Amino acid sequence: MEPIRKVSIIGTGSYVPEKVLTNKDLESIVDTTDEWIYSRTGMRERHIAAADQAASDLGAEAARKAIDDAGISAEDVDLIIVATLSPDMFFPSTACFVQEKIGAKNAFCYDLGAACSGFLYAMDTARAQIACGAVETVLVIGTEKMSTFIDWEDRSTCILFGDGAGAVVLQAGGEGRGVMQSVMGSDGSLAHLLSTPGGGSRNPISHEMIDQKQHFLKMEGRDVFKHAVKRMGDTVLQALEKNGISSDEVGCFIPHQANIRIIDAISKRLGVADRMYSNVEKYANTSSAALAIALDEAVKDGTISKGDLVVLTVFGGGFTWGANVLEWGK
Ligand code: COA
Repeated sequence: MEPIRKVSIIGTGSYVPEKVLTNKDLESIVDTTDEWIYSRTGMRERHIAAADQAASDLGAEAARKAIDDAGISAEDVDLIIVATLSPDMFFPSTACFVQEKIGAKNAFCYDLGAACSGFLYAMDTARAQIACGAVETVLVIGTEKMSTFIDWEDRSTCILFGDGAGAVVLQAGGEGRGVMQSVMGSDGSLAHLLSTPGGGSRNPISHEMIDQKQHFLKMEGRDVFKHAVKRMGDTVLQALEKNGISSDEVGCFIPHQANIRIIDAISKRLGVADRMYSNVEKYANTSSAALAIALDEAVKDGTISKGDLVVLTVFGGGFTWGANVLEWGK
């Protein structure tokens, strides 16, 4: 199915905070080892935001770079969508805070919640808004300060996450096929396997809730792992089929950066190990920022160049998952 109007990514940017937390550093926080973390996840280090940096600060840094890269001004942006599960506050939206920081005064702004899948969902929402003619230029940001929402006494989760942000600018037009159709899916019956159960309207903030550490991320790692491998693999194949593209034509596959073993399992299944992109070693899992940071790095380090077909795929809490195909036109 052809989009009504073609949509292209015209700029990318990313930002990670200065502070690096290595696996060795984690050895003095919880009962773990560099060897265990690296062999089970492929992670060596992650970045941790400063106390005075919230998700919107990280997102604004990435957004400024994407806007510069696009060669536009912040005032040209019609819409800002921020994907995050670590917003500055429940409301107003983190997107409104980013708008104020970067001076995108002509944009309307909202956040989108799809956990680690949020950036791809937001990109597809932006694509649809542009394709139907509602807006011309959209800034999509994935930004996370995961370090505030994880339990630093739980070794099974705290080793896995990092902070960071990535952004893209999408606009009508451009060369090549641009951002094509996505395939996305969700399964709310599995929500309990990956969630932050406390602090919302189901289990509001109380001393008891905090004593029980319900305000921190909880995960059934093995179950999440199995579903992530299956869903991302299936959805990539569905997205390729939907867009009439064979996997041999794809120059670069960028999966959610949650665990190198998940990425390797998908590579093996699809037979695309030579074209699979990963930076999980440097940043760990930055949730909705992961795909955006990886896309920016793959473009900047020359892995992706003009005319390449790129497949993006994500998986996250909900469960949510999805894949998108695009032709790089810059
Ligand atoms: N250091 C040392 N040992 C650890 C540890 C750590 N940081 N974390 C867990 N362990 C222990 C466990 O307690 C368990 O011990 P036991 O066998 O005595 O009970 C043992 O290591 C094996 O745990 P297991 O959960 O089977 O490990 P695993 O090989 O499945 O790896 C994950 C655990 C979390 C790395 C893996 O399941 C994973 O990556 N899951 C998906 C995570 C993900 O993608 N989340 C986000 C999706 S958006």
